[in-house]
Amino acid sequence: MATGVSTTKWNGERQSIERTAADADLSVTLSYAGKKPVAEILSGPCAQTFKVWGVADDPTTTVNRLYWGDNLPILRMLLNDDRVRGKVRLVYIDPPYATNSVFQSRDQKDAYADLLQGAQFVEFLRERLLLIRELLADDGSIYVHLDDNMAFEIKMVMDEVFGKEHFQNWITRKKCSTKNTTRNRFGNIADYILFYTKSSEFVWNRPFDPWSEDKIADEYPYVDEKTGRRYKRVPVHAPGTRNGATGGKWRGMLPPKGKHWQYTPTTLDELDAKGEIYWSKNGNPRRKVFFDPGKGVPQQDIWLNYRDSINQNMVITGYPTEKNLAMLENIVAASSNPGDLVLDAFCGSGTTMQAAYNLGRRWIGIDREEEAICAVLKRFNIGSEKMGDFVTDKAAKSYKPHELLDERNFAQSLFGTCPFQFLVASDKLDQAKVSFKVKVPPDAKHSSLSNLAKRAVDPAIKAASLAVFAKVIS
Ligand SMILES: C[S@@+](CC[C@H](N)C(=O)[O-])C[C@H]1O[C@@H](n2cnc3c(N)ncnc32)[C@H](O)[C@@H]1O
Repeated sequence: MATGVSTTKWNGERQSIERTAADADLSVTLSYAGKKPVAEILSGPCAQTFKVWGVADDPTTTVNRLYWGDNLPILRMLLNDDRVRGKVRLVYIDPPYATNSVFQSRDQKDAYADLLQGAQFVEFLRERLLLIRELLADDGSIYVHLDDNMAFEIKMVMDEVFGKEHFQNWITRKKCSTKNTTRNRFGNIADYILFYTKSSEFVWNRPFDPWSEDKIADEYPYVDEKTGRRYKRVPVHAPGTRNGATGGKWRGMLPPKGKHWQYTPTTLDELDAKGEIYWSKNGNPRRKVFFDPGKGVPQQDIWLNYRDSINQNMVITGYPTEKNLAMLENIVAASSNPGDLVLDAFCGSGTTMQAAYNLGRRWIGIDREEEAICAVLKRFNIGSEKMGDFVTDKAAKSYKPHELLDERNFAQSLFGTCPFQFLVASDKLDQAKVSFKVKVPPDAKHSSLSNLAKRAVDPAIKAASLAVFAKVIS
């Protein structure tokens, strides 16, 4: 594999690129019909939500919250919440992918529709990303899960909203087993996760994969005769010329043309004395790098071990497009610390919230579909169940929505150990009364209207949001 020499270290004659004043700005932006001004998005209407079930509020911290409603006005509402704005350490979202399909749960209920296409889809997501950026802590991270349909367009939106310099990884995940595709193209088994941070200082707990015997043998193919330790051979020189000691002779040899020694001749002598230099038959030195199991193999940006529903023993809620819990735990562990606040604004069955709970983080989940809310409640109350065989198994037992809020399971379920609030947006209150049999505050509808009007004309809130944003966008 060739490594380029950065232009700051290159001594050769460089071909320069002419730039006129007109093309001094090298940023690339995405333009499409219906792209709204940032100010309009930030200052639109806020949701009014009501706690219909769950633990009491805590004025000092954010208790876990499950919101039922459209995430756009709810995210906007959270901008006015001092316990949330600028306090979210990690966001993971797995939004619709513009597939133009309707997804059904395992027991054949319509779960959610994914019908927005092209520019409409891009703007739908951009609006939410702009709000999420405001909620993120300065050292926070965001992961956006997509497939090959819209990943390129959304990468450009992410560059615009979070800054290209805060792009960290384009993760490729193997999402399913190998497909025996009948179409004349390669089987499609990958989806993608775009990882960005809000700034260049961010929480990062490097994940490691364990070493396998095959991988050790592959990467460290040689065995040292004296110590029996496995090692690999790497060059002792690097690209680029140098004028100092590393550009001069070592043991009568100059570094190869256009290269320099990686260490000074004195250090190379020391390495050789310790048996860390390998000499080939024709006298070429290479450095021996010995295998050290350390914490494992630093994780790379291709993820092969987090397929969704790979076998019949896998435990799931049965919500369509439910993601692999271990993958979410990996993300939560890498980009947050215990006690941190984690947000998923397209939470579906609540995989992110379960991962956050398992690792001692607090969470906020939002979804607009009743099926998703039922899946979250099922996960936290009754638990998930083995996937089983889709063809021969009877469909998973169906529960009525209000049964999922039944606190009789309190002691045995996550309801007991992971207390949370269930909050409902004003336009879902009637449905909540019927489906979940929850008590709705008598003046809820009325107060929602008056509060909405109050917020919409609150110039201080608008001005504060816009001021923060002007800085980012300029
Ligand atoms: C791909 S699924 C998420 C699955 C989830 N990651 C899981 O592991 O179960 C996308 C979810 O986004 C929700 N959704 C779509 N548009 C929404 C909106 N405007 N507000 C809130 N939720 C929305 C859908 O109802 C659906 O549950």
